[in-house]
Amino acid sequence: SIVSPLLRTGYHFQPPMNWINDPNGPLYYKGWYHLFYQYNPKGAVWGNIVWAHSVSRDLINWIALEPAIKPDIPSDEHGCWSGSATILPDGTPAMLYTGIDRPDINYQVQNIAFPKNASDPLLREWVKPGYNPVASPEPGMNATQFRDPTTAWFADGHWRMLVGGLRGARRGLAYLYRSRDFKTWVRAKHPLHSALTGMWECPDFFPVHAAGLQAGLDTSEPSTKHVLKNSLDLTRYDYYTVGTYDKAAERYVPDDPAGDYHRLRYDYGNFYASKTFFDPVKRRRILLGWANESDSVTHDKAKGWAGIHAIPRKIWLDPSGKQLLQWPVEELETLRGKPVSVSDKVVKPGEHLEITGLQTYQADVEVSFEVSGLEKAEAFDPAFADDAEKLCGVKGADVRGGVGPFGLWVLASSGLEEKTSIFFRVFRGGYAGKPVVLMCSDPTKSSLTPDLYKPTFAGFVDTDLSSGKISLRALIDRSVVESFGAGGKTCILSRVYPSIAIGDKAHLYVFNNGEADIKVSRLTAWEMKKPLMNGA
Ligand code: FRU
Repeated sequence: SIVSPLLRTGYHFQPPMNWINDPNGPLYYKGWYHLFYQYNPKGAVWGNIVWAHSVSRDLINWIALEPAIKPDIPSDEHGCWSGSATILPDGTPAMLYTGIDRPDINYQVQNIAFPKNASDPLLREWVKPGYNPVASPEPGMNATQFRDPTTAWFADGHWRMLVGGLRGARRGLAYLYRSRDFKTWVRAKHPLHSALTGMWECPDFFPVHAAGLQAGLDTSEPSTKHVLKNSLDLTRYDYYTVGTYDKAAERYVPDDPAGDYHRLRYDYGNFYASKTFFDPVKRRRILLGWANESDSVTHDKAKGWAGIHAIPRKIWLDPSGKQLLQWPVEELETLRGKPVSVSDKVVKPGEHLEITGLQTYQADVEVSFEVSGLEKAEAFDPAFADDAEKLCGVKGADVRGGVGPFGLWVLASSGLEEKTSIFFRVFRGGYAGKPVVLMCSDPTKSSLTPDLYKPTFAGFVDTDLSSGKISLRALIDRSVVESFGAGGKTCILSRVYPSIAIGDKAHLYVFNNGEADIKVSRLTAWEMKKPLMNGA
């Protein structure tokens, strides 16, 4: 093959072969986590979409079951697209999903399915009642842009759910539907929310605790704060706002009036069509997302698979109330092998430090940095205030700076011909005199293979650097690097395909390309074991 089999990820979710996209209907039921996902049983490109199905005790080890929801009724004959699970008051899950009901155009309707046998904890068989579809496009609605129902919530005698849509050329919206019996659904006159952003795919709407509490809430639990997320077809990124849900008016109002365009992202990298669910066992809200390949379609076909999911992340509201925090579920730590640690090491300007004593192609790395000499930071150019990616494109990992760039080179070859840089760069002169912290994932040197898509990803980190401390965690897994800056304030997932830095040829370094010293207060790296991964 033209792609090394060693680039297949080890502990990120994927089926043994073929194409995968969105996570669908995640839920917990009778001792098992269930994950369904958009899947092509026939190949490594998008098409023939069914809901494949896996179960897990811990969100890390997965067992594949037969596809759960497949085209077999008139209203989903040409595809079973994305959707969500709702646990009804009697404990039964209900699945709302989009069906394609005609071959010529993608005419989209919403369907419902229930477990055939609620006493089966594995929920292997699903039935679709004869009253499907439960929502169809009405005159004046764009029938080809009407999909991805959310988890429903119950309030004041009614169930409610959202469906993503597009009005005119530009208005993305979340249609609101109401039902008394979960069977007959009626569209509310106005959408829950909308903005001039293009189509909203895969909306997600959920309550959060107000003040930095890590516990999650179920969709129907009362709360003063909500999060609305949508996946923008135009940019292929997932954006969210924090705001208030006015139940009486049936409206959602973002706290930041510019929020809809300010574009807070779950992840500043390759992460799309995500969905959250409430885990009643640990009372937490968990985020799942899809990461496409950055490889060519030719390579995807040659390797026989395409797409992975991010590591499930616990999410909760930051104490500032302005954004979410995200952290890999704690169960991931069961895969950690023996740790290798480094403490109190100063990395001087232009120097790097190799972390040895473990294999690093499949690893988990946590590091706390301490920066000094903030007066050496470069001046911030406000022209980049809304464009972290552009800034990082200009100031990549090899461009010398003042405070930073400093961080990790991962999946690096011993001669450094190949390396993926995950780093911070600090600027002077931000809002109210605060330093501006940029976090980047620079893949431009990640591979000598030609024709790869190697976008530079970046986001700002809203952190207080006055203590000089900032942390980074990187989940390295052969062809994926999933990074969490400042305790999960800014996250970046990137796909990279080294040609040399594969298997035991992959190295890990701390680097400093700034003028100020950087101290590694503590770095711990673990080799990661391979979990059960759907039988592959
Ligand atoms: C998002 C998406 C959804 C749709 C599904 C089809 O990636 O386009 O809007 O339901 O994928 O596979």
